[in-house]
Amino acid sequence: MRKILVGQSGGPTAAINASLSGVLDGARGQNITCMGMRHGIAGLLDKDVVNLNKLIPDTQASELLAHTPASWLGSCRYKLPSLEDESADKNKIYQEISDTLDEMEIDAFLYIGGNDSMDTIAKLAAWGKAHAHERCYIGVPKTIDNDLVGIDHTPGFGSAAQFVVQSLIDLRLDADVYGVKNVLVTEIMGRDAGWLTLFATAGGADIIVLPEFACDFDTVATRTRALLDQKDTVIIAVSEGAKTQDGTLYCDFDTGTSELDAFGHRAQQSGACRALASYLKAQLNVKTRAIEFSTLQRCASFALSHVDIEHAHALGAYALNLANQGKTGCMASLKRIENPSVTWEFVDVRVEKVANKIRYVDAHFYDEKNLCATEAARAYIAPLIDKPLNHIEPL
Ligand code: F6P
Repeated sequence: MRKILVGQSGGPTAAINASLSGVLDGARGQNITCMGMRHGIAGLLDKDVVNLNKLIPDTQASELLAHTPASWLGSCRYKLPSLEDESADKNKIYQEISDTLDEMEIDAFLYIGGNDSMDTIAKLAAWGKAHAHERCYIGVPKTIDNDLVGIDHTPGFGSAAQFVVQSLIDLRLDADVYGVKNVLVTEIMGRDAGWLTLFATAGGADIIVLPEFACDFDTVATRTRALLDQKDTVIIAVSEGAKTQDGTLYCDFDTGTSELDAFGHRAQQSGACRALASYLKAQLNVKTRAIEFSTLQRCASFALSHVDIEHAHALGAYALNLANQGKTGCMASLKRIENPSVTWEFVDVRVEKVANKIRYVDAHFYDEKNLCATEAARAYIAPLIDKPLNHIEPL
């Protein structure tokens, strides 16, 4: 293999550049030329590409890249047309991409992204196969949502979780200072999956509300009231995609926005914490605060999880190995081995199994009665982050 093209796509994470760095470090040892697309496939269609060997010439630059949050190459949320679509436009787009890759003499196309980006890899691999093009298309996973099937946990998730956990620990110390009853409602990303909110458990959240388990505001209020009898500060972690029993998103009680992106997802889910906090204030008559972690949780370079960066980097290098072996239409993945301590094995999975699918929080990870995570969830979570910072216990 002589020349590859790498891109990043979807929502950024604090670890996505570590995967890019892993690809580059792997390629450096093998004299492979690495080109990068600016803003993913959308940039490629505009022939917006850069030479990564020149931009990241050595391991020092690569190391810095690995610890830099956000998608360094730029990202996009661009959906390729369905292969079943018979329109001339569809054929034009695929032909254009293929011609550009031919012109650039690209042997392998690596795309770092989530389930929507795996859709891009699946389509390009299928189109390439149907048109007898010998080129490898490999997916490198990333997403703070941890919602990819076929992998134990996704790069980016651990670092976002590290931020969530440390923030909640620190928030409780702050909230306790006045010795008065109060409720903090934090809002955590994850779209339709509650994995990152589940992690709030490790930061001491008292109540968690996940998109997978519909829960009415009054159920949260009842549980909050009971907990306020035992402690001054109750911390609630609510997923941005949390829903009431009739399927209404919590955030709809705040903004009512319903704009969709190219993949049919709500363009922005935001406001669940504000909606719930004002309801609880009215019901319980206590001080409440709504705290939306928003994009901070996916770009906090001061809260990187070491294991996350390590896995992100290794998966980039592993994806390059898969291309070297001539594989195509697959995603570099991690399998958890418990024997008895936790380790991970690198494997590849067919990308069609991942594309457009959502891995939801398993039922055995959530205690619906007490609105909290189970011991099994704690065991899943623990190896993915570093130990939180030490502090002196409150008086
Ligand atoms: O998919 C990753 C993610 O960060 C989600 O958790 C969030 O809902 C979404 O992206 C936000 O997208 P954007 O960056 O386009 O606002």
